[in-house]
Amino acid sequence: MKRFRPYRTDAATREQYSDVQVQAPDFIYPLFIVEGKNQQQIINTLPGVFRFSIDRLSDELAEITALGISKVLLFGVIDDALKNPEGTAGYDPDSLVCRTVRYIKQHFPRITVFTDVCLCEYTSHGHCGLLHGDQIENDSTLPVLARIALSHAQAGADFVAPSAMMDGQVQAIREALTSAGLKTKILSYSAKYASSFYGPFRDAAGSAPSFGDRKSYQMDYRTRDQGLAEIAADIEEGADWVMVKPAQTYLDIIQRAAVAFPKTPLAAYQVSGEYAMLKNAAESHLLNEEQAFKESLTAIKRAGAQYIISYYAKEFIRKGL
Ligand code: PBG
Repeated sequence: MKRFRPYRTDAATREQYSDVQVQAPDFIYPLFIVEGKNQQQIINTLPGVFRFSIDRLSDELAEITALGISKVLLFGVIDDALKNPEGTAGYDPDSLVCRTVRYIKQHFPRITVFTDVCLCEYTSHGHCGLLHGDQIENDSTLPVLARIALSHAQAGADFVAPSAMMDGQVQAIREALTSAGLKTKILSYSAKYASSFYGPFRDAAGSAPSFGDRKSYQMDYRTRDQGLAEIAADIEEGADWVMVKPAQTYLDIIQRAAVAFPKTPLAAYQVSGEYAMLKNAAESHLLNEEQAFKESLTAIKRAGAQYIISYYAKEFIRKGL
C-alpha cells in the first residue's frame, strides 16, 4: 500500500507539499471606465465591480497597488451617442481609453497597462467587426483595429489586447505599431470561444450585439484543436503573450497551450460569468465563496496559465492564502 495521507496530516504539511501558488504578480485586474465626474457605478450583474470615471480611479489604483497587483486591463464604456457603425470613437486620440492610459501612466507609472482592442464597445451594432449587410467583415475591420491599437499605444499603453477574433488582427496591429516606431507589446485573445459566460460583461460594458450572436467570429467550443491553431497563428503574426478565454471550462486548452508554446507567456481570462456564478452561489449559501474562488483560480494556474485576468484578483490577495 502506498500511503498518501501523510501529505495531508495538518495545514503546515499540506502547505509544504503544495506546489501551485497564485500570487499577486499573476493577476491582471479588469477596469471599466466611464465618462463624467465622481462616478463609481454599481454593476448589478457583477457585485463588487464598478465602473469608474477617471477622477475616481486613484483610490482603486492605490488599493490594487498596495495589494501588489501591478497590471490592469482597461475597457472604455462610452455613451451610445458616440457610437456609429464604423466604431470611429475607438481611435480618437483623445478617447476615454487614451485619456485613462495617460492618467495611469502619469500618476501610477509602475502599473502595466493593457487595453482591450475591439469594435463591440464602439459600434452602434455592438459587433466586434464592421458590418456588410448582416455579415461581419474580416478584412475591412483590420485597419480599424490597427488604428484603435495605435491610438492606445501612442497614449502609452504597455500592451494592446485585440479581442475581436478577426483573422490577421495581430499582424495588422503589429505592422501598424512597427511603422509608427512603437515597441508596444501585444497580448492576443487568441483562443476566445463564443461563450455564454460573457453575459454579465456585456451588461457592464454596454457591448451586447444588437442582433445575432458572435458565433461567426468567436470560436466554436465543439472543437479540439482549433484553439491551438489560433494560438500558433497569433505567435507567428507577432503576439508577445497569448490568451485562452474563458478559463474554467477551457482548462484542457490552457494545459495544452502551456505545453505546446512554452516560450510564450500564457494568460487565461476568468470571465464575468465565472465570477458571477460564484458570487451568486455564495449568496445562496451553496458554497463557501472564498474557498471556491481560491480553488477555481488555483486550477487555472495549475493548468498552465502564467497570468490570470480576474475580477476576484483583489479579493484573492486580500483574503491571503
Ligand atoms: C470584447 C470582450 C468581451 C469580453 C472581453 N472583451 C465580450 C465578448 O467578446 O463578447 C468578455 C469578458 C468577460 O466576460 O469578463 N471586447
